[in-house]
Amino acid sequence: MNRDEASGPIVRAAGLVKTYRPEGAAPVHAVRGVDLTVEPGEFVAVTGPSGAGKSTLLHLLGGLDRPDSGSLWLDGRQVDGYREARWAELRRNHIGIVFQFFNLVSNLSVADNVELPALLAGRSPRQARAARGELLDELGLTGKENSTPGELSGGEQQRVALARALVNTPSLLLADEPAGSLDSKGTREVLRLLARFHRRGQTIVLVTHDARMASAADRVISFFDGRVVDDAHLGGGTQRPGAGVADVLKLKG
Ligand SMILES: Nc1ncnc2c1ncn2[C@@H]1O[C@H](COP(=O)(O)OP(=O)(O)OP(=O)(O)O)[C@@H](O)[C@H]1O
Ligand SMILES: [Mg+2]
Repeated sequence: MNRDEASGPIVRAAGLVKTYRPEGAAPVHAVRGVDLTVEPGEFVAVTGPSGAGKSTLLHLLGGLDRPDSGSLWLDGRQVDGYREARWAELRRNHIGIVFQFFNLVSNLSVADNVELPALLAGRSPRQARAARGELLDELGLTGKENSTPGELSGGEQQRVALARALVNTPSLLLADEPAGSLDSKGTREVLRLLARFHRRGQTIVLVTHDARMASAADRVISFFDGRVVDDAHLGGGTQRPGAGVADVLKLKG
């Protein structure tokens, strides 16, 4: 995905649907038809109550889960028909993902955790080392290279996870409650870093139920019961006036 060639949106989703069908239980309509466009450089927060389908949506955007129907384009490529191997390649090179619980490899050093995706993407050990050094420096982790994740604080682990997600300069960063298990100091730190990468042009989709985190974004999408119920550009107007959460609640009540 070369940004020089692709000038359209980073993400374009049309009619995404995901229904979980747990054995012996009623189907769960987690995502009920989502249309979404994210332009290059946007910082979009997806917010909404627990169970609204936010993580499911993020998993669909990162190919960690497949939609039952709908179409998805990333950087101009239609990816909804991709099989796992192509998705893995896409995630290695073009999508960075950060989760609530870090997901670091516990028996690898900090340095190796960050270099691994670069090596898997075919960069030389020397390039991987240089990229790792730069990011750890930037994220205030110099001196922790040889530590294992278990020897770090939660906030430090999350910064390592962020470094790992960004080491291949992805066109899209997906973050699911990246400060969800951190205290308020750790949350501020993650926010500050996301904002800094955003200022540099990083496209970010951040899932959070924390209003303070959402307000760091320049666009806030409200998710409710598997649907987008509001899409607000902060500082600007709202894209879908009249479809706020309150209206939906009224309809449902
Ligand atoms: N693997 C799964 N199998 C069955 N149901 C699932 C699965 N994953 C999620 N769900 C259900 O789908 C719905 C949406 O879940 P999802 O995790 O996307 O919500 P969320 O908005 O991220 O919530 P939270 O804020 O609590 O993280 C929920 O009802 C959840 O129970
Ligand atoms: Mg979730």
